Amino acid sequence: MVSKKLLNAIIKQYSLPLEGLHGLSHWARVLENGRLLAPLTGARLEVVELFAVFHDARRRNESTDYRHGHRAADYVRAQRHLLDLNERDFDLLVMACAYHVDGGTIGDVTVQTCWDADRLDICRVGLQINPKYLCTEAAREETFMREAVVRGVNRYVPELIKSEWGVEL
Ligand SMILES: [Fe+2]
Repeated sequence: MVSKKLLNAIIKQYSLPLEGLHGLSHWARVLENGRLLAPLTGARLEVVELFAVFHDARRRNESTDYRHGHRAADYVRAQRHLLDLNERDFDLLVMACAYHVDGGTIGDVTVQTCWDADRLDICRVGLQINPKYLCTEAAREETFMREAVVRGVNRYVPELIKSEWGVEL
């Protein structure tokens, strides 16, 4: 689980609106997608949860910002002291953040699960999920995709934002 201390540090430096398209609700939906996917894919859940809160944390705008993945990876490295991860998991988190923007689908299953958890929430910006860009069989499952579409289109606000993170949006 993501600690409140870490989440507060990430929120403090986030330069875009917390209620925005790449803000807290998106992070929480990615986290929920990840929690659903990880048991099916065998991904390291700790990594997927951290990816959810780090991957867009260094965005500079809500549209095209191709370097934000690499900035997120640099930020993860800078926050190493706050992360209770072994070296392998830490490297997976850095990789997942750095390359999540590129549309790649090949990699370690934990990295793939991170990318799928994010891409399943693409409908919030008016785009459709393209199964071609989903990495895992679990994410491409029809019901799974349909439910992610509903959550994204409605910009559903996960309850965990309040219950786990203690944040009121
Ligand atoms: Fe994202």
